[in-house]
Amino acid sequence: MSSSGTTTARLLPGAPVAEQVLAEVAESVVALRAAGVTPALATVLVGDDDASAGYIRIKQRQAAELGFVSPHVHLPASASQADLHAVLADFNADKAVHGVLVQYPIPGHLDYDRALAELDPDKDVDGMHPVNMGRLALGLPGPLPCTPAGIEALLAFHGVPVAGREVVVLGRGATLGRPLAMLLAQKRPTANAAVTVVHTGVPDWPRYTRRAEILVAAAGVPGIIQPEHVRPGGVVVGGGVRYEGRRLLPDVDESCAEVAGAITPRVGGVGPTTVAMLFRNAVRAAQRASGLG
Ligand SMILES: NC(=O)c1ccc[n+]([C@@H]2O[C@H](COP(=O)([O-])OP(=O)(O)OC[C@H]3O[C@@H](n4cnc5c(N)ncnc54)[C@H](OP(=O)(O)O)[C@@H]3O)[C@@H](O)[C@H]2O)c1
Repeated sequence: MSSSGTTTARLLPGAPVAEQVLAEVAESVVALRAAGVTPALATVLVGDDDASAGYIRIKQRQAAELGFVSPHVHLPASASQADLHAVLADFNADKAVHGVLVQYPIPGHLDYDRALAELDPDKDVDGMHPVNMGRLALGLPGPLPCTPAGIEALLAFHGVPVAGREVVVLGRGATLGRPLAMLLAQKRPTANAAVTVVHTGVPDWPRYTRRAEILVAAAGVPGIIQPEHVRPGGVVVGGGVRYEGRRLLPDVDESCAEVAGAITPRVGGVGPTTVAMLFRNAVRAAQRASGLG
């Protein structure tokens, strides 16, 4: 109970989940290296956006700490779509490269989705290639989209039962809501849920979110989830965020913690698990490519 007499939800931080996943990745890297395979995660940066350059540097540092090598290509902001495709074609052809990450966003004159489609789906560490979305829909093995996979791992790590429960996802976007719905409906102990997806086509969506045993916000609309949208004692996962400059504005209003039984923290919830899943995809790509998976 807080001093105001309201209950406060148990927090579901992402950092310990990420730590566990990354420890497993590091172990797999050691095993691969012992078998003579050096896992390689290539990175591609287009243009001179400071934030993007910073994100790439963080991922490269983390890759090095985990034992990956990360060949890097930096294209100028003036690069053409063909230039970008040529870089991806080179990495596709290079058997020593197991995963490729194209830092998003890329300059406005370039088409990210078209570039992604050029990438070898087996090297797509973001798990967003159309072939990998198809594999997810069919339940076939392949790289999983990082944020949905991170949310499944987060719930499992914190002992939140998902199987047989009612999950409501607010948002049907390609990065989060749609693939998450597919993932959590799969027949697997950490999934196996009754999943409902709501969006702008369902104006009375609070009717659904209020009955959710697990509510996942995936809209990218700051503060869209308020306490009255949450089932008392339910689990709330904040996936959607909007950035205003460097300021992070989450979908889930902080006051929801007074109604929920468990909730991801405002900062450090889903985000860290997303990055960990990228490295899990990368190491699995190296295992598959070398027949050591
Ligand atoms: N935490 C992380 O690491 C992480 C990683 C990736 C993405 N994200 C975040 O996840 C969010 C979703 O990304 P996305 O690319 O999957 O989605 P998106 O393409 O931005 O789509 C947003 C979805 O939310 C729905 N929506 C928006 N406003 C709504 C409203 N007022 N009422 C009901 N539904 C509403 C939209 O409905 P319609 O389809 O009807 O338009 C749409 O389905 C973004 O905020 C993104 O930043 C977070």
